[in-house]
Amino acid sequence: MAESMKGMKRTHRCTEVSSANIGEVVTVMGWVQKRRNLGSLIFVDLRDRSGLLQLVFDSESVGAEGFEKAETLRSEFVIAAQGEVVKRSGAVNPKMATGDIELRVTQLRILSEAQTPPFPIEDGIATKEELRLKYRYLDLRRPQLQKNLMLRSKAVSVTRNFLLEEGFLEIETPMLTKSTPEGARDYLVPSRIHPGAFYALPQSPQLFKQLLMCSGYDRYYQIVKCFRDEDLRADRQPEFTQIDMELSFVDVDDVIAYNERLLARMFRECIGVDVPLPIPRMTWQEAMDRFGSDKPDIRFGMELKDISDVVSDSEFAVFRNALAAGGTVRGINAQGQGGMPRKKIDALVDFVKGYGAKGLAYLAIQANGSYKSSFAKFMKPEEMDAIVERMEGKPGDLLLIAADKTTLVWSVLGALRLELAKTMGLLKKDVYQFLWITDFPLLEYSEEENRYVAKHHPFTMPMEEDIPLLDTDPGKVRAKAYDITLNGNEIGGGSVRIFQSDIQEKMFEVLGFTKEEAHERFGFLLDAFQYGVPPHAGLAYGLDRLIMLMAQTDNIRDVIAFPKIKDASCLMTNAPDAVEEKQLEELSIAVTKKEKA
Ligand code: AMO
Ligand code: AMP
Repeated sequence: MAESMKGMKRTHRCTEVSSANIGEVVTVMGWVQKRRNLGSLIFVDLRDRSGLLQLVFDSESVGAEGFEKAETLRSEFVIAAQGEVVKRSGAVNPKMATGDIELRVTQLRILSEAQTPPFPIEDGIATKEELRLKYRYLDLRRPQLQKNLMLRSKAVSVTRNFLLEEGFLEIETPMLTKSTPEGARDYLVPSRIHPGAFYALPQSPQLFKQLLMCSGYDRYYQIVKCFRDEDLRADRQPEFTQIDMELSFVDVDDVIAYNERLLARMFRECIGVDVPLPIPRMTWQEAMDRFGSDKPDIRFGMELKDISDVVSDSEFAVFRNALAAGGTVRGINAQGQGGMPRKKIDALVDFVKGYGAKGLAYLAIQANGSYKSSFAKFMKPEEMDAIVERMEGKPGDLLLIAADKTTLVWSVLGALRLELAKTMGLLKKDVYQFLWITDFPLLEYSEEENRYVAKHHPFTMPMEEDIPLLDTDPGKVRAKAYDITLNGNEIGGGSVRIFQSDIQEKMFEVLGFTKEEAHERFGFLLDAFQYGVPPHAGLAYGLDRLIMLMAQTDNIRDVIAFPKIKDASCLMTNAPDAVEEKQLEELSIAVTKKEKA
């Protein structure tokens, strides 16, 4: 039978008790981690969000009845215990924060009993993630997840403090709104009052924050949920949180300067890591050429080398055809991997095929300087030497080469580089390498839609000197856009915004919107631009990704209290779910296709 707390008040969390409290009477409350009976003594590890404290029961101090009660304790019972803090009678446990003390209990209350949980509440156990997510409220008791969520809370409060000190205002923007153009699919919410009409959940507060600048709020921020119906990956969730900001009367360097100071403060205060400032910057073009990625992981080298000119006269059809079609031949040097067995190389070939490559040519440099290669028979010896020289190959190295359209070569080698780094153990989680990527292309050609689409979003300012190219060669226009990356992850992005309506209208035109369509979707913004608008710029972080990296996990779900899985469902609540016929009727909605029973 459950007892109450009546007459008892918690004085400490478990690990707030220390040897400084020896001799004092304290009261702790929490969950039973485990109980061990040693004849006349019972030991219980008590757990709360701060950690563990050892309780010891003997009938002399807790009384016969109390001792009997202690014998019934099982894992995950919730109890209150009062007693005297004493030096540990047994061996000191150096792994425990409270390993040198214990609580000699004089009063025990069982506040709540517990069934045996479907898995033990411990870190490092091999329980399937599906089961853990179904019982998320139990998994959230695990020390690691509790640490992650505490870290998240801390990071948010440091951010708030910093931005408030810097004169930013926290302003909320609507969740029931109109579609925002961040490029993903919208989550729609049907309107009961307007049959057939829908709100969209915001993909970001982009338009509203720009309007707030028009309204003179000057510096805005919000820690805000965003919703995107897109294919999920390890670092993506359908609803996620942004640290979103917008500033008036600033340019690229100002936004970057504020954010470098914010990041430095966050990393120092949250995880004790010093971020050397300024954070290095790299143009998008350089990032693609050197790393094959617009979010390069610069914790290691293995840079891409262009060997197109070196092999331009080669007989090897693979190289020749790629070059003739306007593509390139590039490679990476996996240093010290020259002895890689054939089977592993074949696995790499399969890996790149997953990225659309037709193959992967290799050249292993033996200890004696001779070559073992998949394409030597098509090449002249001096061409092979020239490749090795360009790629700075040394005995023991493995050179991996791809020939294709340049964009494909980038993505293939960019991915291969990361894959190799993983297997070579080059990705140290406790090393934090920030990098700004700047000068993104403004537009990207979509083969699917047969038109240019905005690479960031349609409100991003082109570089002044590139504006004339909007008419002649839109693909070449660079944007005043920047991403902040960390260890190969895009943790945030933003841009200077267009604030002149003529440039904005031009941008819509290039994107293939008619004047009417543009006004239909964004008329309120274009109208606002008619009434005095300051130059402005902003940025948004993916908070979940940022915390994921700070917490040194690969899984974004580990830093979100109640996350969704790959198919965007929640295993605990079973959302999304069918609704009652009556609800649909009220919303004037008829479901035509019922996929899952
Ligand atoms: P962007 O679309 O780049 O910019 O988003 C900003 C950051 O949000 C994170 N992010 C995500 N995190 C988890 N799950 C997702 N599905 C997801 N999608 C994005 C990324 C990304 O860098 N309005 C602009 C910002 C601006 O221009 O000021 C915007 O939303 O870390
Ligand atoms: P093949 O003549 O098709 O046997 O190819 C010879 C070598 O070139 C093999 O190692 C292939 O994996 C490799 N290869 C094929 N296509 C490409 C490509 N597009 N880029 C680089 N290597 C390739």
